[in-house]
Amino acid sequence: MSTEQILKNTNAQILDEFNASIMFDKELYSQDIKGSIAHSQMLCEQGVLTNEEQESIENGLLQVKEEIESGKFEFSLAYEDIHMAVENRLTEIIGEPGKRLHTARSRNDQVATDFRLYVQEKSLSIKELLKELVGTFVQVADKHTTTLIPGMTHLQHAQPLNFGYHMLAYANMFKRDFERFESSYERNNYSPLGSAALAGTPHNINRDSTASKLGFKAPTAHAMDSVSDRDFALEILFNISTSMMHISRISEELVTWSSYEFQFIRMSDEYATTSSIMPQKKNPDVPELLRGKTGRVYGNLISLFTVMKGLPLAYNKDTQEDKEGVFDSVKTIEISLKILNEVIKTMIVNVDKMENACKIGHLSATDLADYLVQKQNMPFRTAYYITKDVVACANSLNKDISELTIEEIRSSNDVIRDIDDEIIMYLDLRNSMNARKSFGGTSTLQTVEQIKVFEEWLEK
Ligand code: ARG
Repeated sequence: MSTEQILKNTNAQILDEFNASIMFDKELYSQDIKGSIAHSQMLCEQGVLTNEEQESIENGLLQVKEEIESGKFEFSLAYEDIHMAVENRLTEIIGEPGKRLHTARSRNDQVATDFRLYVQEKSLSIKELLKELVGTFVQVADKHTTTLIPGMTHLQHAQPLNFGYHMLAYANMFKRDFERFESSYERNNYSPLGSAALAGTPHNINRDSTASKLGFKAPTAHAMDSVSDRDFALEILFNISTSMMHISRISEELVTWSSYEFQFIRMSDEYATTSSIMPQKKNPDVPELLRGKTGRVYGNLISLFTVMKGLPLAYNKDTQEDKEGVFDSVKTIEISLKILNEVIKTMIVNVDKMENACKIGHLSATDLADYLVQKQNMPFRTAYYITKDVVACANSLNKDISELTIEEIRSSNDVIRDIDDEIIMYLDLRNSMNARKSFGGTSTLQTVEQIKVFEEWLEK
């Protein structure tokens, strides 16, 4: 071979590698085969294929599937993508009828269908994982409806909560995520198959039939839109990103809570790792990784937005770049949800540390101000400044506001020199938490109500 010839071959090889998607879109083999079987059945119903041809195609496709699943199938760059690879192998196996399968369709509606099927299937399985995680947060919440934990704003002690209530905040986030996947599923539950290249087809096809065979609600309404649309992929990327953001937020809390300074929780040994140099260490690698992976998932969303933004109608090869990010994000969210679920289930809650931490930072100070407003009809701002004096008094005595004696409180500010001694009860931390009985508030009573609502939802 001449040098020129070798160079030409090398270039051809590079070009194949560049152009092909088979090495990643093989992930869509089962959806591709499912779509082709439905298409062939429809063509047969419409009299485009004979019964024998259809049967031979369907059996052939099932054999291809079997070959892929048993690892016998050779994925070769020569066939560019999963659609060509399956069709070629089918024709190798069954001969002439294989060549009729592509009647009335294009790879453009084929890939749109395969990918949408994949996204729909994954939405369902991710929803299940989300529901399981909600269930876990609710279980932990149920055990800790009276466990005090400092509620924070600006990461500074603010007001006392119960730990169950804190867990339910996450249950709410992941429930919203569940609903987000659900509504995307509904919105995108339409079949692009039969849109053909961009404008429909002159063949007598029945798109309702393929839509229903594939489990879609109906066919999509506009052929050109259907082959160009990747909103469904963007939606799952957004939904996954939002869930990862929630995962990342609880991960951040787990890292903080398990630090020496907090010691609110201890992660089960299985989910904590050791240091290669510092033998005393137990590191929260797992929540750190969950937090870190969130970045890549956001990247996948922005990537696809960027791919799509300048595309003229209809199909463009740029769109082939839609898949890897989605596959990656789906895998990431699946494993992240499973792992987080285990971490939450197995973490050890250090009730004493949480409750002791509540004695720092005058968490019940607002209760004094609220008391003065409620019992003495004082304007809130006036009550606020009086409370500030009581806090200053507590600070000077090196005490928490909940530890002051009635004399100490009375001596803090002249206006409250005769304040009733029941105020001591109001400043008690547990009473302070339980005082917040407003709908959605932290009191044990409200928390228990909220748990009931979740339990009903989980049973559905
Ligand atoms: N591999 C292609 C993709 O992922 C399939 C569609 C190809 N269609 C075309 N007209 N080149 O988008």
